[in-house]
Amino acid sequence: MCDALIKEIRQEFPIFEYQSSQKTPFIYFDHAATALKPRCVIEAMTDYYSKYTANIHRGVHQGSYKASSEYENARKKIAKFINAKSDQEIIFTSGTTASINHFARSLCQGILHKGDRVILSTMEHHSSLVCWQAMAQEYDLQLEFIDFDDNGELDLSNLNTLLASPTKLLSVLSVSNTLGTVNPIRDLAKKCHEKGVHIFVDMAQSVAHLPTDVQADDIDFAAFSGHKIFGPTGIGVFWGKEELIKKLPPFFYGGGMIREVELNTCAFLEGVHRFEAGTPPIAEAIGLGAAIDFVQNLGWDTMNKITAQNMRLADEIFSQYVDYVILYGHSKHKIDIFSWSIPQIHAHDIGSFMAEMGIAIRSGHQCTQPITRHFHLSSLSRISSSVYNLSDDWQYFAQKLDEMLRFFRVKQ
Ligand code: ALA
Repeated sequence: MCDALIKEIRQEFPIFEYQSSQKTPFIYFDHAATALKPRCVIEAMTDYYSKYTANIHRGVHQGSYKASSEYENARKKIAKFINAKSDQEIIFTSGTTASINHFARSLCQGILHKGDRVILSTMEHHSSLVCWQAMAQEYDLQLEFIDFDDNGELDLSNLNTLLASPTKLLSVLSVSNTLGTVNPIRDLAKKCHEKGVHIFVDMAQSVAHLPTDVQADDIDFAAFSGHKIFGPTGIGVFWGKEELIKKLPPFFYGGGMIREVELNTCAFLEGVHRFEAGTPPIAEAIGLGAAIDFVQNLGWDTMNKITAQNMRLADEIFSQYVDYVILYGHSKHKIDIFSWSIPQIHAHDIGSFMAEMGIAIRSGHQCTQPITRHFHLSSLSRISSSVYNLSDDWQYFAQKLDEMLRFFRVKQ
């Protein structure tokens, strides 16, 4: 058991101290929706607001200098964390959805052409699926899909055909937010490049669970959110190979992204600042930098050990309730995200019951309606765990699951 270690980690999250003074227990099983925030993230943001608030890259006063250097430091930390070739490949956005939306449009204007084909998987989050549907309409692109099987694994039997001309881009998530499946990104990137196809990876769920190495995976573009990796909301990252982002037009115009402005023309800055018009989310970028430090200090060995414990405990519980609870996503390559249903109880009733007991889970279509539809459902319950979940949390959940089954007369 890693519980002693997890107890130490929980000390870093002020929410546990506050919640322990409340009447209801606090069991947080909604990590995939947003991670809880460690003290270092909150303090880094509070420091910015209370000690050196200033705009960045716009002044020579001390606050501006300090804020600019902390903001750029965060960019450097992120570059190192995902093993980008340079910090000039890291562009701050407001989150994964913003990264996908802005850059899908930018890709349509800079790299893709009318009639090109874009491949998605049918397990994509709506942020990618809905965005590419809109882009396909607006820019006259074709969309095709890689389906997944009942285990929740991509069916790659047709991949060569899908990647053939006129395909120009594969946009796929690294880990399914609903099924927990870890997709074979490195293999997919290799196959894409053999066919001259670019690959974009939605790393929203993998970034806080698995080490990221964009160079070893040899992908072309990626995105993730700060809030899913223990950082603040309102900040995200778009990463692209430097030689490729040079080909992309900016999608936001204003101060901070120009070199020279005349009344009818202007010249944009080179590099990433060309994509960061206006006052960016400064405190949030600094907070994200602190979140990256937090993960690195924890280390992947510790994170992996706790993930393995979560996987084992979940597996023990769900296998005891196999007559009542249907679990979705059985890939050998998966993380601690568990979507399930109980045929006799609606997911929202499950969510409400659990909430009454102080257990936070996600209920609904998980922003992946093609997945719920695949399983002939309209909604699911989802547990997603992290480094702060004790074995007691799982035992408490098992006890409440049992009570719930009896309450709804599913179990005698
Ligand atoms: N994408 C987040 C989730 O899966 C919000 O819950």
